[in-house]
Amino acid sequence: MDRSRRTPVIAGNWKMNLGPAACRALLEELLAELPADPGCEVLVCPPYLDLPLAAELLVGSPVALGAQNCHWENAGAYTGEIAPAMLREAGCRAVIVGHSERRQYFGETDETAGRRLAAAVEEGLTGILCVGESLADREAGEELAVCARQLAGGLSGIDAAGLSRVILAYEPVWAIGTGRTATAEEAGRVCRALRRMAAERYGEEAAAGLRILYGGSMNEKNARELLAQPDIDGGLIGGAALAAGRFCGIIAACGEEGVL
Ligand code: 13P
Repeated sequence: MDRSRRTPVIAGNWKMNLGPAACRALLEELLAELPADPGCEVLVCPPYLDLPLAAELLVGSPVALGAQNCHWENAGAYTGEIAPAMLREAGCRAVIVGHSERRQYFGETDETAGRRLAAAVEEGLTGILCVGESLADREAGEELAVCARQLAGGLSGIDAAGLSRVILAYEPVWAIGTGRTATAEEAGRVCRALRRMAAERYGEEAAAGLRILYGGSMNEKNARELLAQPDIDGGLIGGAALAAGRFCGIIAACGEEGVL
């Protein structure tokens, strides 16, 4: 499928790191280092508490703001949750849903991830749906079956029009924060399979426009090879997004001749 239709995305998921003071320092450094036209979409997803400050710092910059989760209702008695409309009001354009850490530690299921994604898209946010197998799934040769199940559940409330506001992120759990990256070929193979699954559900045309990111120990050294895979349209970066130089290195790799 023709990848020229897909603008690459480099997104930083800060997870539960960097409060407002550290957020300011990192974003100021990032904005100073980043070229005016980075050659791809750049997104940062700091903790909720940083969002208003980050929105202010990013005005007029090439960096968009996202959050790390959202609820499926826009208001109500849901202690500790954040609504999609609130994220939008705070200046977010995107939100991550179904991250494996939410699944592993906070009881996220395919069904709840799907409800969050549908609500985010309904609110006009871009939803980044994370899928990916555990080490045990992979050792059992189940990686595609697990991804297919997570994809079907996560996309259950998304129609063909909504898909244009969805980005997929393939994040094998065993590669997250471990320094152990999937080989470029392996990551590329699963991302190709994800695109095929999307094509079965939404048609070739919609699947050809769907951005699929790789995440899991992606850094400034391995980014080029991963991004050169025809079905990998960017990265969802954890640890390496917490240092401006490393994050900019990945963005630069994305813009290199012959990578995308
Ligand atoms: P690391 O880049 O730290 O492995 O984290 C990846 C991730 O989970 C991004 O969402």
